Amino acid sequence: MMNYKVGLVGTGVIAPAHLKGWQRTHGGTVVGVFDLNRDMAQQRASQFHIPTVYDSLEQLIADCDVVDVCTPPQSHAAIAQQVLAAGRHLVIEKPLVTNAADWEEMALLAQEKQLSITVVHNLKVARCVEQAKKWVDEGRIGRIIRIRREFLTSPTADRMLVGNNHWSHTLPGGRWFETLPHELYLTHYFAGPLQVADVQALHTANAPEGAPADEVLITLKGDTCLATVHFSANCHQNRRAFTLQGTEGIIQVDLLSDFATLSRYQDGRGRRPLGGYKAAETAGAGLAWLPNRLGYAWWQLRGETPHTRIMAAVDRYLRGEDEPLTPLAEVDYVVRLCEQVGREIDRQLVEESGTASRFAQSPHP
Ligand SMILES: NC(=O)c1ccc[n+]([C@@H]2O[C@H](COP(=O)([O-])OP(=O)(O)OC[C@H]3O[C@@H](n4cnc5c(N)ncnc54)[C@H](O)[C@@H]3O)[C@@H](O)[C@H]2O)c1
Repeated sequence: MMNYKVGLVGTGVIAPAHLKGWQRTHGGTVVGVFDLNRDMAQQRASQFHIPTVYDSLEQLIADCDVVDVCTPPQSHAAIAQQVLAAGRHLVIEKPLVTNAADWEEMALLAQEKQLSITVVHNLKVARCVEQAKKWVDEGRIGRIIRIRREFLTSPTADRMLVGNNHWSHTLPGGRWFETLPHELYLTHYFAGPLQVADVQALHTANAPEGAPADEVLITLKGDTCLATVHFSANCHQNRRAFTLQGTEGIIQVDLLSDFATLSRYQDGRGRRPLGGYKAAETAGAGLAWLPNRLGYAWWQLRGETPHTRIMAAVDRYLRGEDEPLTPLAEVDYVVRLCEQVGREIDRQLVEESGTASRFAQSPHP
């Protein structure tokens, strides 16, 4: 498909990132938007010079070749079903679904109708993650033995933790389910499919309503690699980072500042008086700072983001120039582990603290 029409459903916070991405593609033109909140759709249409604000999802689907879904995850399964049944390609935000059975139906339908499903696993194409992947593929840190992911935030820094009304609070396990796909596809990208070995969920007196488990530690285990994910709703540092520890080196990635550093420092008694690995890594990060920040500024100037890169990759795929960006095995892995972890957080909350996310309190957990 060299030229194709795109319709976007859900015109909230993330929609502009998608619309900017489509504007830069070779073959895609956004012909219309639809949102249950018509004022919101109208506002986005004016902002991005989009000709049509649709009155219904059916009308949008009928007019488009590709439907891009940016609504909350609870609505994804029903919308995706309609899109695929009508024979349209699907681009859709993570979390794809709230339960794996919906994904299975979706995957079958797509296969039957020979349609593509691209789930927006955008951090894979973040500049700092691409840099980390390049170092790993070049063998710079040896074999990965440990991944440590930290999502340490608080309601002052995380819009989804504010108040008690955000849709992420009604996901399995609460707000963390919204970000968990990122943690899982990144782990999968670097270490392949790991199993859930352990989930520990704490409910403290400080827990905000959207994250009744305000401290969560997930351990994943493979044959040669261990990974942990730490979610905190109490940390005012707002750290969103991960570390790849290899047998020969370490890569530290700060996703917020888009900055990755590599250290291959090896211990030696003679080096310790100089400050050992702490001093070497600080000096290494200092040397990397200027070239890295120039690269960052260049991205900003060109308006490039992980989302613009996702849309460019979808464009290449639809035009027959590239492979799909999100392999179905990765989507399957993420969906299944999200469900497992989300429900385990709720199980522990109920059993140990007598509380639960609003998802578990609803009639169909
Ligand atoms: N990939 C990322 O980095 C990233 C970042 C933020 C959000 N997201 C994901 O994007 C999705 C949307 O998040 P957001 O923050 O933009 O949400 P949002 O609440 O800001 O916007 C959602 C919009 O969808 C509309 N909507 C809800 N149900 C609908 C339906 N059935 N049909 C049509 N419109 C409907 C709402 O009226 C609202 O305007 C979520 O899945 C979220 O997890 C991804």
